[in-house]
Amino acid sequence: MNPQNDQEVAVFGQGYVGLPLSIALVKAGYKVVGFDLDREKIQQIRESQSPIVDISNSEIQELHKSKNYIATSDLQKCENSTVKIVCVPTPLTDESTPDFYFVTKAIDLIGSIMNDRDLVIIESTIAIGSTRNLILDLLNEKVKTKAISFDLVYSPERIDPGSKNWNLNNTPKLVSGLNEASLKRGCQIYSRFIKDLVECSSFEIAEAAKLLENTFRLVNISFINELSMLLRAVNIDVLEVIQAAATKPYGFMQFFPSVGVGGHCIPVDPIYLTSFADKVGFQMQTVKTAVKVNNGLPDYFAKLASDFLGGLKNKKILIVGIAFKKNISDTRESSSIKLLVELRKLGAKVYWHDDLVQYWNGETTSEISDNYDLLVLSTPHDYLRLSDVTSVPILDSRGFIL
Ligand SMILES: NC(=O)c1ccc[n+]([C@@H]2O[C@H](COP(=O)([O-])OP(=O)(O)OC[C@H]3O[C@@H](n4cnc5c(N)ncnc54)[C@H](O)[C@@H]3O)[C@@H](O)[C@H]2O)c1
Repeated sequence: MNPQNDQEVAVFGQGYVGLPLSIALVKAGYKVVGFDLDREKIQQIRESQSPIVDISNSEIQELHKSKNYIATSDLQKCENSTVKIVCVPTPLTDESTPDFYFVTKAIDLIGSIMNDRDLVIIESTIAIGSTRNLILDLLNEKVKTKAISFDLVYSPERIDPGSKNWNLNNTPKLVSGLNEASLKRGCQIYSRFIKDLVECSSFEIAEAAKLLENTFRLVNISFINELSMLLRAVNIDVLEVIQAAATKPYGFMQFFPSVGVGGHCIPVDPIYLTSFADKVGFQMQTVKTAVKVNNGLPDYFAKLASDFLGGLKNKKILIVGIAFKKNISDTRESSSIKLLVELRKLGAKVYWHDDLVQYWNGETTSEISDNYDLLVLSTPHDYLRLSDVTSVPILDSRGFIL
């Protein structure tokens, strides 16, 4: 197969990963079919209403103007794309175990429309061994009666939502292939719009590297949060300690206190790693402890608020910032929301302010005002100015100042 024959790509999942990827592919000269089972999202994209904050409506208008992009829920429209890229969610089940439902569904759909010599690329974050033992097996099973061959690539996405410095084009990308031909073909696609490609020698290396990256963040953020709890208890300013430590020119990286990690990746991916470890009979103690520390943070902050206010019953509290990260609107797995739920459970009247989120769970953002007993600065978006609120104490989750 000459890799340059690939002209049309179908991207399965038009969310935080799939939509920016579709835009990059179109800019690189590919025809793109943006496929998503969520018909409302597809309609929104067709009307040039961006479903994610990192992509503007005008970028979607440009995409439509190019005439090289369609948004669809019609699987047949993906049939002629020789490259099929999977960007669907990999969340946790209610029992906090990896949920492969969306990936297996996507592979099932792809398998039903596969043509000879198609290339399937997985960008979703998955557990070690899943590309070979789950996805490859499923594809082989789906196509066994058709007698066709295909290429397979695993290339995990590293998008940093809200980042002004790092984007799809300048973030090095890991690429791994079933064999040399798959790897070469995958690299050919990405090299049209990504500067640095890092070829991995197996699927398992790329899968484990992706889990290492995100687990590294969880472990370090949990550590700094645990340290900040200790230092607060003995009246030492954690921010000054971090600043002092950061003067070491090597071997140290700064992490800051917060109400805990959130989002679709950092709290979730480490569980894909620990589940894999459990399966092969290995205990990942550090990671499990980090997950536990992170899960305990909403309780810890609720207790801080309660101690300060002398109980929470009927106290009016405003949580400022409910997105999982500053300067974005995504609330998935947000620790701020877990704190909100906890405070309500303990009897407080809790409102929230977040102009980027606006609506959540049938509720709308509340104005920041002096009309509260306590403000909790949970997600410090750049637009926020709390200096006008003079009479309300502020619990700053990033520095614990009350
Ligand atoms: N969001 C991030 O910052 C980020 C960063 C790196 C990696 N990832 C990984 O990328 C993957 C996708 O994450 P996301 O944030 O884009 O999720 P998302 O929820 O924003 O988007 C996924 C989309 O896939 C659609 N979908 C579900 N099943 C489908 C199917 N069978 N066929 C077609 N579409 C389907 C959903 O409707 C949704 O619109 C996950 O594995 C995630 O861990 C995400």
